[in-house]
Order: sequence, then structure tokens, then C-alpha cells
Amino acid sequence: MSLVQAHDPVLLISEEGKRYLVFVEPDGSWYTNRGRLPYAEIIGHPYGQVKTTHLGQKFLILRPTTSDLIQYLKRTTQIVYPKDAARLVMELDLQDGKRMIEAGTGSGGLTLAFARAVAPSGRVHSYEIRPEHQRVARRNLEKLGLLPYVDLKLRDADEGFDETDVDAVFLDVRDAASIIPRAEAALMESGVFAALQPTVNQVSDALRALENGNFVDIRVEEILIRPWKPVPDRLRPADRMIAHTGYLIFARKLDARYRVFWMDKRARRRAAEFGKSKNISPLEGKG
Ligand SMILES: C[S@@+](CC[C@H](N)C(=O)[O-])C[C@H]1O[C@@H](n2cnc3c(N)ncnc32)[C@H](O)[C@@H]1O
Repeated sequence: MSLVQAHDPVLLISEEGKRYLVFVEPDGSWYTNRGRLPYAEIIGHPYGQVKTTHLGQKFLILRPTTSDLIQYLKRTTQIVYPKDAARLVMELDLQDGKRMIEAGTGSGGLTLAFARAVAPSGRVHSYEIRPEHQRVARRNLEKLGLLPYVDLKLRDADEGFDETDVDAVFLDVRDAASIIPRAEAALMESGVFAALQPTVNQVSDALRALENGNFVDIRVEEILIRPWKPVPDRLRPADRMIAHTGYLIFARKLDARYRVFWMDKRARRRAAEFGKSKNISPLEGKG
């Protein structure tokens, strides 16, 4: 049986389904308008129990998932939603030992999902321009014991990245397009690029930057999750859903000589039409 340890993150769910994330510190208590709950009543007890505040309000005590942590950790920035985070971990092919770059760190919500995927022998090199955001991210990652797998850098990603030959680069900054040449310089051949951009204009700019660089297999996705009311006799979609978070852009870096070969007929025609062809003879890529 797994018991709650001191300093653990714990998810409390009210009878109405409201969720709270707390770190249970010895000698401390959780204070809410629903009453006080001493952490001593949680620490050393199994997950999955119901605890009652001094005002008689009941809460279910659960171990938080990565999705819960992303959503309910302290944040000072917009976060990447778990639906997008999960897709990114999969498409960036993050697993133990991988080295990746992220910009910007923000509150570290996505950084924690990346760090969990590449630990223990991989690293996330995470760039953030604003110290107040990096402070929040550092605190969040430290509380979760993930700092050993993250290299937090207080730097403008526009100035370029220190790392080279990384497996993956992810950009969640306003102007991803301007940083794409930096991402290309840091990536290994066949490395994976991804970005999240909230508006289609930004996506168009990013696509142009990718087409001007040495990237292939360019894709744009939007992920929609439609929750359902889990009532067996009246099963139907919920009234509300999150309609928009951002667009995901994916691409693979490829050596310029081989990129020309990969471009399909239509893309090649379009590149020539807009004068964007790299003027590399397909024959150069042979061998
Ligand atoms: C939307 S937030 C990132 C949220 C993060 N993905 C998360 O899940 O918590 C964007 C962050 O990028 C940072 N940023 C913007 N431009 C940047 C740049 N050129 N270099 C580094 N960080 C930058 C911002 O300060 C902000 O913290």
C-alpha cells in the first residue's frame, strides 16, 4: 500500500468535484473556506481515503497524475494543456536519455511533463526570458524533485541556444518563427521540432520559417477533447468544452541536400513559384 509522505503533492477533491493541489508539509494545515485540515491527518495514511475538515466538509485524497500537476500547480503564465502536452511528449519522442530544448519555461507545467519523460539520464534545457516566471518554474520543479533533470536558463531564446545535436526542440513563445533558425542550429539531423502557437497568423509565419529552413515532414494539428457526462442512463456530451488552446506544429530537421528529395511535387512547385527553392540540384543529394 502506498502512503502519503511528507512534502508529497496531494490532490484533494471536494464532494462537488472541485480539485485542489497541495504539498503536505509536516506541522502545516490546509486552510480553505471549507475549513481546516491538518496535514498530519494525511501524512502517513494511504491515498484514496476521505478526510473531513473541522467544518465537516469531506475531501477525497488522491495521488495527482502528471495531468493534475500541470493543471493545478502554481502558475504565473498561460500553461500548455495536458491534451497538448501528451501529444508533444509522444511526437517529440521523449524517453529516458533524450536531450531537448524548450523555450519558454513559463511556470514549468510542460517542463515537468518533459522532465518526467526524459529522466533519469536525459535533460531538458529550458530557456526563459523573465526571472519571475523562472522562479515559479524552479519552485514547482524543485517541489516535485525534478530539478536534476532540468537545466533552467535565464536567457532570450532569440540569442540562440548553447546546446547542439539535441534530439528535440519545442517552442512556446509568442514569435516562434523568428527562433526557428536557432532551433535548426541546435537540432541533430532528423531531430524533431515542435511549437505551440495560439493564432493562425503565427502558424503561417512558423510554416514560412520552416519552409525556408531545412525541415521536412511539416504538420499542423489542433487537438480537441470533447468530454462526456459519465451517466450510464443519460450518456451524452458535457455542455462545455475547451474550444481553443493552440495549434501544434511539427517538423523534422533534414540536411539541405536530402531535403530537396523529400519535398513532394506540389511543395517543390510551390517553392519554385514563390522563389523559395534552395536551388540545390536533386543530384547533389545522391549518396
Ligand atoms: C505561454 S508561456 C509558456 C508556458 C509553459 N509552456 C508552461 O506550460 O507553463 C511563454 C513563456 O515564454 C517566455 N518567453 C517569451 N519570449 C521568450 C524568448 N524570446 N526567450 C525565452 N523565453 C521567452 C515568456 O516570458 C513566458 O514565460
